[in-house]
Amino acid sequence: MGTKLIIDTDPGVDDAFALALATRSEDVDLLGVTTVFGNVPLSHTTANARRLLQLFGREDVPVAAGAERPLVYDNAKPAGFVHGQDGLSGHAGTLPEAKRALDERGAVRLLVDLLEAADEPVTIAPIGPLTNIALLLAAHPQIREKIGRIVIMGGGVTKGNSTTAAEFNIWSDPEAARRVLVDGDIPTVLVPLDITHQCSVDTTWLGKLAASGPLGAALEALTPTYVEHYTPILGFPGMVMHDAVAVAEAIRPGILDTESYPVDVECGFGPARGATLVDRRRLRSTDPQTVPGRTIDVALTTDVDAFRGFVLDRIVGGL
Ligand code: BDR
Ligand code: CA
Repeated sequence: MGTKLIIDTDPGVDDAFALALATRSEDVDLLGVTTVFGNVPLSHTTANARRLLQLFGREDVPVAAGAERPLVYDNAKPAGFVHGQDGLSGHAGTLPEAKRALDERGAVRLLVDLLEAADEPVTIAPIGPLTNIALLLAAHPQIREKIGRIVIMGGGVTKGNSTTAAEFNIWSDPEAARRVLVDGDIPTVLVPLDITHQCSVDTTWLGKLAASGPLGAALEALTPTYVEHYTPILGFPGMVMHDAVAVAEAIRPGILDTESYPVDVECGFGPARGATLVDRRRLRSTDPQTVPGRTIDVALTTDVDAFRGFVLDRIVGGL
């Protein structure tokens, strides 16, 4: 029954929109959700993911907690100033308590069990730091055969956000990101800041969401701190729903236009740590100047108005 999907997440306001999109899409078989440190500490991202699934009426979806810090260098910093200290603009406590218990297997074991049990290829959508996915691939390399596609929100071709050069999810754990993006051999789509910013939504769009009913209103109520952060960046009152852009591509392959480029991740300790190097020079693979990364699909454009309509229709219940 539709795309088999696992989301690895650090909610996060835009993660909440991504979870809404997946859980409200009848053509998606959401097998599980795993959580990771990131926007806020793991205890918050896990509690938020569980409460959000309860809000969306999805007690059937298991949630397991994963990494509480990066793989190698413990120098990530949370983004409470973007998402609020609780990750959801101070409104996490207004969401319903989760009735389903936290899955005690932990993120990596849950991922392995769900993938092994799957009878068709599974799409994984990592929308936080890539620590859990790097651990999965390092500890269980044979599980690659069960993964059809990885669609990652992360990186930037022409800009960063955590630093001038680096995007938050990659910058939070560059070594993990390198392991997944560059060392892997699973078909991978990178959904960078360049496309997520094009798909930003304004407060008129958010108003339509809020007016759609109790669920839309509850989701919109999570956005004030996030909108306050993004308004001066965008130049109008609104927000960038980064993670929902990646999940849209995961559940509707091709909704974003992609191009294949060699990609590498900067793991040094200079000012570009965590940058994604996307080599758009169109060199021949034999040319000595080619970046040493792996060639993957990078999403760069879409029909923006159709995209915004797609997300709204899905979340408010249309198909
Ligand atoms: C990414 O960083 C986080 O703050 C968001 O949830 C998104 O996954 C955007 O850079
Ligand atoms: Ca996120």
